[in-house]
Amino acid sequence: MSIEFPHIRPRRLRLNESLRRMMQETTLNPADFVYPLFVRHGRDIQHPIQSMPGVFQWSIDKLIGEIEEVAALGIPAVMLFGIPEKKDAYGSENYNPEGIIPRAIRAIKETLPELIVISDMCFCEYTDHGHCGVINQKNQKEFTPGLPEGYLLNDPTLELLGRASVVHAQAGADIIAPSGMVDGMVGEIRRALDTDGLHHVTIMSYAAKYSSGFYGPFREAAESAPGFGDRKQYQMDPANSREALKEVALDVAEGADILMVKPALPYLDIIAAVRRTYNLPIAAYNVSGEYSMIHAAAANGWLDLKRCAVESLISIKRAGADMILTYFAKDAVKWLETS
Ligand code: PBG
Repeated sequence: MSIEFPHIRPRRLRLNESLRRMMQETTLNPADFVYPLFVRHGRDIQHPIQSMPGVFQWSIDKLIGEIEEVAALGIPAVMLFGIPEKKDAYGSENYNPEGIIPRAIRAIKETLPELIVISDMCFCEYTDHGHCGVINQKNQKEFTPGLPEGYLLNDPTLELLGRASVVHAQAGADIIAPSGMVDGMVGEIRRALDTDGLHHVTIMSYAAKYSSGFYGPFREAAESAPGFGDRKQYQMDPANSREALKEVALDVAEGADILMVKPALPYLDIIAAVRRTYNLPIAAYNVSGEYSMIHAAAANGWLDLKRCAVESLISIKRAGADMILTYFAKDAVKWLETS
């Protein structure tokens, strides 16, 4: 045999299905997934989201059937997004104990107390201007002349985040997930929860959240598009990775229990960097646009839906995520059962 001929042949380990299964480094399980759900007021509503096949806005009565299905599949957790009846400058429905999310949480906990309920903690669905907190506006008491009009005011927003987190936790939320990229949000929410004796409530911080075009379909689903401008003053520039580690470091110092990177697929390097640097559990959000683009291509016959969805989920886990928030969760569990 010539010296050049390879003695090491990696293909030996790919010879057949049994060997390939033995060599598999990463596996997906139902416990890896969190299923996001949109909930709105009313009865008997299952309103489809055009750009997200299989995703709906649910009224609470119908939501219960859906979460029973989620739990039966072995998915341990859901993430809730609320569409309020009315919106105002402060997003006050977010801290109304009779608001859509506290009601939904109570209903879920009555039926399925073991299902982990994660509450997305942000104001964009609740404010009339669609931004993630209090905006600098001339007629308001928080008006700060040194800052531009329309600027998201950090500290007044913190106070409201703390208040809404306590309301959601009192309703039974197991995990509060602040997603607004407001400075100090984790520390303030921890302080507010602890002051109310809610020490047992976990904080999953959207620690490195980018200003992403991939949130497009979500804004239809959550009715939360900003009324003016964009979110670049608070969400991160997709070009930055050192800044992600700085954001994550701050959230760790402020007491985050779980760190999230969002979106997932265009930011696998960030997931891997956070994994290498910290020992906390890491979540990754496989966002609406990542879901919709695979569906759209599959509907055109250009991609195989199941194969590409599972491949993207496994790549997120391989990069270092311990849990994946994904609209594919239910389908993925069914596909894994039949593969
Ligand atoms: C903010 C929030 C957003 C998403 C989750 N939480 C939207 C945004 O930041 O504009 C996006 C999730 C997705 O695209 O699936 N409440």
